[in-house]
Amino acid sequence: MIRGKQIYEGKAKKLFETDDPELVIVSYKDDATAFNGQKKGTIEAKGEINNRMSNLLMKMLEEKGIRTHFVRELNSSETLVKKLSIIPLEVIVRNITAGSFSSRFGVEEGIVFDSPTIEFSYKNDALGDPLINSYHVAALKLATSEEIAAVKDTAFRVNSELKSFWAERGVTLVDFKLEFGRLADGTVVLADEISPDTCRLWASATKKKLDKDRFRRDLSGVAEAYREIMSRLERSRS
Ligand code: ADP
Ligand code: TMP
Ligand code: ASP
Repeated sequence: MIRGKQIYEGKAKKLFETDDPELVIVSYKDDATAFNGQKKGTIEAKGEINNRMSNLLMKMLEEKGIRTHFVRELNSSETLVKKLSIIPLEVIVRNITAGSFSSRFGVEEGIVFDSPTIEFSYKNDALGDPLINSYHVAALKLATSEEIAAVKDTAFRVNSELKSFWAERGVTLVDFKLEFGRLADGTVVLADEISPDTCRLWASATKKKLDKDRFRRDLSGVAEAYREIMSRLERSRS
């Protein structure tokens, strides 16, 4: 696999071309941002942890019949993935109140929903990733109604798989963000990453936050929390 030129640098990852037009290399950085890039920092070893965790979780989801962009891990912080045309939506599934749900609706964090919720944000940094509903998505031609239905269905399936996966490891999946994209033939598959950057993960016994909220909220032990959540995942595999 020959690495070509860099095609994109985002807040947490870089993308590189390869000699195969259908594949790209994702390179994870230690850089962390919050509040649409207003808060900036780095988290030691985050790139490697997010790369490994995302790949393990995507492999697990593939085994459960959910199609993802994952192809092959190349090294500790880089992965070969299928090149997609990204649907510009952040698909957010929630099991428990937290974050913007709590602030928007004025409810305390930690209330367990009877059934999961879903919402979309329009992935557009200039607009601050505003909330968007499925009628707006169709009106703006960001995705067809069939694609939206497939995205919702897959997002809830991902939630049930991830929820039980983490529960077996003493971790509560509070909420998470997914992205989806289209292959050249139009098939919609799961993209981007699933990591402590994109999920809220609480130690079930203590409710300790083991995710990027420690960085967002200036809590201590950010890098340690990333290491802890990764070791919970790795420990369980041996
Ligand atoms: P951001 O763009 O929000 O700063 P990142 O730093 O994580 O985020 O950059 C990764 C970019 O790559 C994101 O814009 C994401 O939508 C995009 N992406 C993720 N998976 C794929 C893929 N398989 N093919 C093409 N682009 C992808
Ligand atoms: P929120 O409560 O801030 O809306 O976040 C919901 C989930 O989405 C949470 O697990 C963190 C994740 N998320 C991202 O992955 N990227 C983002 O830009 C934001 C705002 C949240
Ligand atoms: N990734 C986001 C940003 O910097 C925010 C977040 O994850 O909270 O804008």
